[in-house]
Amino acid sequence: MAASPWWHGAVLYQLYVRSWRDSNGDGYGDIRGILAGLDHLSWLGVDGVWLSPTTPSPDEDWGYDVSDYTGVHRELGTSEDLDALIAAAANAGMKVLLDLVPNHTSSAHPWFIDAADGRDSAHRDYYVWADAAPGGGPPNNWLDATGHSAWQWDAATGQYYLHNFLVGQPDLNWWLPAVHAEFRDILEFWFDRGVAGFRIDVAHGLYKDAELRDNPPLPPGSSELDGRFGFRSVYNEGRPETHGVYRDWRKIADSYSPPRLLLGETWVGDAARLASYYGSNDELQLAFNFPFAFAPLQMPDIARVISDTLTALPPGACPVWMGSNHDIGRFPSRWCDGDDRRIKLALLVLTTLPGATILYYGDEIGMTDVFVPQELRRDAMTRGSANPRGNRDRARTPMRWDDSPGAGFTADDIQPWLPLPPRDAPNVAAQRADSQSTLWFCKQLIAMRHAEIGAEVAGLELLPGPAELLAYRVGGLVVAANLGSEPADVPAQAGQLMLDTTGAAQSPAVLQPWQGIVARRRPDLG
Ligand code: GLC
Ligand code: CA
Repeated sequence: MAASPWWHGAVLYQLYVRSWRDSNGDGYGDIRGILAGLDHLSWLGVDGVWLSPTTPSPDEDWGYDVSDYTGVHRELGTSEDLDALIAAAANAGMKVLLDLVPNHTSSAHPWFIDAADGRDSAHRDYYVWADAAPGGGPPNNWLDATGHSAWQWDAATGQYYLHNFLVGQPDLNWWLPAVHAEFRDILEFWFDRGVAGFRIDVAHGLYKDAELRDNPPLPPGSSELDGRFGFRSVYNEGRPETHGVYRDWRKIADSYSPPRLLLGETWVGDAARLASYYGSNDELQLAFNFPFAFAPLQMPDIARVISDTLTALPPGACPVWMGSNHDIGRFPSRWCDGDDRRIKLALLVLTTLPGATILYYGDEIGMTDVFVPQELRRDAMTRGSANPRGNRDRARTPMRWDDSPGAGFTADDIQPWLPLPPRDAPNVAAQRADSQSTLWFCKQLIAMRHAEIGAEVAGLELLPGPAELLAYRVGGLVVAANLGSEPADVPAQAGQLMLDTTGAAQSPAVLQPWQGIVARRRPDLG
C-alpha cells in the first residue's frame, strides 16, 4: 500500500503574516520575521504552515485583493525571502502552503484595468459584466460581503461588474477557458517553486449562475453559512460547475512528487455539501469544516458534527478540524471565554480528532480575541459593523512573544498595524518557562497525536456516557472531555493515562467540569 500523504494526521499552523513577527520595525509582520520565529514552530511540532496572502495587493482586504499572482508583497518581503523560508521550513521538516485567491482579483490587477478599458478589450470577459436591469439599476438582487449590491456601475463602459466581496474585488468569470489557463499556470509556477500546496480562498465560489438569477430569501433560523443579509447564496456561489475546476487542479497537484495539497475554504453549512468538495477523492484533498468551527463546544452539538462529518466524507477522505481563523475569530474566546481549563480541553479535542487539524497563530498559547476600538480598525469589510462578532480585526492582532512593550512582535517604540494584546495577555516566553502552560500542553498533544493517532483519517467511535461528556475511541486511544458543569465518570474503556488537562499524573475516576483526558484503550474492554 502506498504511504499516506503527509497531511493525513497533520497539524497545520495558519500564520497571518502581518501579525506574527516584524523583522524591520515597520509595525507589520513579514517573511523575515517568520524565518526568525521558525524555531517556535518546529519546537511545537507542527507539520506545516499556511501563510495568509503574500502576493502584491493594494490591501483593501489585506492581500485577498491580489494584483499579481506570482509576486511577493513589498511590505512582506521579496521572492528570495519566500524561497529562503520554504528552504528553512523544509530543513526543519515543515511544509509551506500559500493562499490562492481564484474567485476575484483586485481592481488594481492588470487584467481588470484592461477589462475596464473598453467593451472589446482583451480581458473584458475575464470578469462578470452585465447590463442594467430593464427598468435600470443592478442586474439582480445579489449582495456583497458588506450588505450592499454586489454590482458596481462602470460609467465609462456602461455596464455593471460583479463583486461578491468589496467593490475593489471584481469576481473572475470562470465560464471563460482563458481564466482556467491562467490559474493552471499560477498553480504550476508555485508548485515548481517548492510550495507544498494552497489554501484556496472562497473555494465554494468561482462559478456564478450563467443566467444571473436572483437569490431566494434565507429562511429564518438558517445557518450564517448558508447566505448573507437575508438571502440564500444559491446562484452567486456553490454552483455545480466549480467541481470541474478542482478535478482539473487535482490532476496538476497529483502530477508532482510529493503531490501538492489543495485545501479549500469551503464555506458551506452542512456535511453533505462539505463532502462534495472531496469529489470521489478526485477534487480537494482537504476542505475546511465550518459547521464544526461554528458548533458550540457542548454536547450533543459537537458530537453530532463530528459524526456527521465522518459519515458524510467519502471513504479515505481526510477531515479538517479548526476552531479559529482570521475571519471567524478565536476559539479561546468563542468556545472558552478565555478560561484556561476550557482552552486546554478544546485543544485536546482538536488534536485528537482523526484527519488534519489546523491551529491559528496564538491558539497554542490560548490567545483570545482583542478588543480593537473603532478608530484603530483596519478591516474595510467589517469596519462599520456594530456586531462585535462581525469585526475581524479582533482576531488579527499581533502575536505576543513576551511581555515587553512591543510584545517581541515589533520594536518597543513602534506602533504596530493593529493594537497588541494587553501586557498581561498570554505570551510565548512566559509559557515556555512554565511546564504547566497551555503552550507545553499543546506541544505534548501534538507529539502524542503524531505518535499514537498517526495518519488515521476516520477510525473514530463515539462512546456512550453521561450527557455532557464527549468521549471517543480513536486508534488505540480513548479521549474523554467533560463539557458540562457536573462531574462525569471516566469511560470504562480508558486505561493508562497519557495526558490530563489538569496536569495530574494519576488516572482520575471522575472528570471535573472542563477536565479532559487522553488514555490508552484497555485492550480487555475492546
Ligand atoms: C475569504 C477570506 C477572507 C476574505 C474573503 C475575500 O473568506 O478568508 O479574509 O476577506 O475571502 O477574499
Ligand atoms: Ca515588517
